[in-house]
Amino acid sequence: MNHGYTYQSTLAASQATPWRIEDIIGAGKRLDFSRPFMPETLARVEPLAFLNSNEKRTLNQIRGNAYLCIFGLVEEFILPFVLDHARPQLQPDDYRARALLQFASEEAKHIQLFKRFRTDFEEGFGTDCFVIGPPADIAKAILAHDPLGVALTTLHIEWMVQRHYVDSIKDDQNLDPQFKSLLKHHWLEEVQHAKLDTLMVESLAAGRSEEEIMRGVEEYLEIGGFIDGGLKQQVEFDLDSFERATGRLLTDGEQEEFRRQQLQANRWTYLGTGMTHERVLATLESLTVKGRKLVETISPAFC
Ligand SMILES: [Fe+2]
Ligand SMILES: [Fe+2]
Repeated sequence: MNHGYTYQSTLAASQATPWRIEDIIGAGKRLDFSRPFMPETLARVEPLAFLNSNEKRTLNQIRGNAYLCIFGLVEEFILPFVLDHARPQLQPDDYRARALLQFASEEAKHIQLFKRFRTDFEEGFGTDCFVIGPPADIAKAILAHDPLGVALTTLHIEWMVQRHYVDSIKDDQNLDPQFKSLLKHHWLEEVQHAKLDTLMVESLAAGRSEEEIMRGVEEYLEIGGFIDGGLKQQVEFDLDSFERATGRLLTDGEQEEFRRQQLQANRWTYLGTGMTHERVLATLESLTVKGRKLVETISPAFC
């Protein structure tokens, strides 16, 4: 595929915009709980007409907490996966080794950042909000798949982050500036990861027959199904957190509507925005047109 990504250029770009966790969280940099955390295109709280504006903002913040925690969680499988991919070929390409180790180091930093964020959230929000996990079990289940399927999942996640920030977050002036700053700093480093993932996918697909590539695509979709199961559980957690945080018990009909709307909102956030991303589809097509077509037949369910 003619994308022009190289290990040398991604390494140089990631070294040009360094930041430390201490620069962006703590020491007076606090979350503002009077503001929403997530853009409405991802949170989709407005269609829940039976909630008042305070309740909608509370649900938006619950979704924001889950968003960063779920990123922390998926990055726990990306970190060992990138290290395993780097390890067998530390030579002769020094740029490859350094770019992949930089990638892994940044993911380790993001995992720590999101844990640090969670402490601030718990202190300020005042109600415990459960998030799917534990991360080690989820990582184990995902890493049991074909490496090409895992690399495609990683590619999906990295481009998804780009799309969320550029399309929905960057120009949204309503969001809490501190939460937005976390998303911005994460996005800055993920730009290079998306390019490195493209190179990882290409190297894992090299030399495979079309049938073997399709096995990787099918395993990518299986991982998507596994994540979808987690999202169903997350909606139940969010409903429970919402009721405890607001003290409002929803009627059976309201709960049904909450589940229906929020499951689709979660599906769009974590699955649809990646599966329909033009760069993900272009990479799939460069491996095999059949792979792109298969994903395109399934993705409408997650939009
Ligand atoms: Fe990350
Ligand atoms: Fe990443």
